[in-house]
Amino acid sequence: MKTKISLLIIAIMLTIGFLHAQSKTEMNKMLIVYFSWSNDGNTRNMAEQIKAATNADIHEIKPVTPYPRDYNACVEQAKKEVNAGYQPPLKTKVDNISEYDIIFVGSPNWWATIAPPVATFLSSYNFEGKTIVPFITHEGSRMGRSVSDIKKLCPNSTILEGLPVRGGSVRSAGNDIKEWLRKIKMIK
Ligand SMILES: Cc1cc2nc3c(=O)[nH]c(=O)nc-3n(C[C@H](O)[C@H](O)[C@H](O)COP(=O)(O)O)c2cc1C
Repeated sequence: MKTKISLLIIAIMLTIGFLHAQSKTEMNKMLIVYFSWSNDGNTRNMAEQIKAATNADIHEIKPVTPYPRDYNACVEQAKKEVNAGYQPPLKTKVDNISEYDIIFVGSPNWWATIAPPVATFLSSYNFEGKTIVPFITHEGSRMGRSVSDIKKLCPNSTILEGLPVRGGSVRSAGNDIKEWLRKIKMIK
């Protein structure tokens, strides 16, 4: 009798384990990647809020050569790079990108588009069949032409509706961020 009960318990535990593993593999795995330059770290803060709401993995994009800390020097360099379509080499890499189905891509608006290191990131991997969710922090230009530039770099991905948040308002944008995540069905 004791052996029968033990076997039954083991069988139940194995079934629960199997069902749990199955539901995990069927779930869409999410990654948040972002670049952030300013001392305020607006895009980083937005990325962290998305992580807190979704429990997704997170990855910071860093160029090999950091941008100048001086604002005007950075603005000038960024202008030249954006105009030239330059994609700076990156210091950081995601080894297991194929595991992710949904990738949140965050950038400050730089000269009306994504910052060049984010363009490098999007050119570095194959995002075919994956879902890209843009989020942008800005000081007035909202998404600019970020979405069409992301589409050019990821022509075979589904691009969901992104969210622009003014840099200075990121820290009080928690409700807007959650509402957007609900609308695009990333959280319940
Ligand atoms: C090089 C550079 C270019 C920028 N260009 C724009 C722009 O075209 N439109 C805009 O609204 N904000 C622009 N901004 C402001 C940033 O998008 C904004 O401050 C953002 O929140 C900064 O994010 P971060 O703290 O993650 O770096 C620019 C800032 C920098 C440094």
